[in-house]
Amino acid sequence: MKIMYTDTYANMSRRAANIISAQIILHPKTVLGLPTGTTPIGAYRQLIEWYKKGDLDFSQVTTFNLDEYLGLDGSHPQSYRYFMDNQLFDHVNIRKGNTHVPDGTAADPEAECELYEQAIKEAGGIDLQVLGIGNNGHIGFNEPGTAYEKTTNVTELTESTIEANSRLFASKEEVPTKALTMGMKTIMHARRILLLVSGQHKLDILNAALHGPITPEVPASLLQLHPDLTVIVSTEDIPADF
Ligand code: GLP
Repeated sequence: MKIMYTDTYANMSRRAANIISAQIILHPKTVLGLPTGTTPIGAYRQLIEWYKKGDLDFSQVTTFNLDEYLGLDGSHPQSYRYFMDNQLFDHVNIRKGNTHVPDGTAADPEAECELYEQAIKEAGGIDLQVLGIGNNGHIGFNEPGTAYEKTTNVTELTESTIEANSRLFASKEEVPTKALTMGMKTIMHARRILLLVSGQHKLDILNAALHGPITPEVPASLLQLHPDLTVIVSTEDIPADF
């Protein structure tokens, strides 16, 4: 495990973008696993900037997002498909058909999860999985108590996650209570993992995840067992004017 501390959100973001860029430059057909949330936005902006300068080519890149809210379609501003299109995909030369986000409106969500898992396998597996961490230690939407052997699945969100994510919705009542998420097993199968953490309020849970007991109660603690984990931490909160 490599842990890098940075003093600002901008530095964390640039370092993360450097690692993602190197992966794309060295392996143009790379398969990336991507997160949503506010934490990776700075890294996405940096990637867009480098793409616009001509330093990056996404034309052969494939992506799989970690998760999606059950019931939201891609036109909903809080859906993760909408987020990814707006924060990254619409600004670089990635082929939309190569970008995957679980379909939150699938008629049979369980079957959608199986198809998603299958699609990851068919793409050759995830080369670099980028992650954020929830306040309760969740990764993707793998909430505390989740079994390690789960692949992509439909999951129930905890009260604390609904509360935390309600800041992005008009009201708490509008936050979906379920989601489709890559499972812990899916995430652990990625060849490399890059965990991004920003802000003082995440440091306690990060410490528990990296240095505490490996337990389903802190889902991110399983990452201690991954053979190629890099963690980039910014002690600074995301600036309000970012
Ligand atoms: C959501 C996402 C996670 C993300 C987490 C933290 O719950 N499902 O993938 O890591 O939020 O988000 P933020 O980066 O905004 O703190």
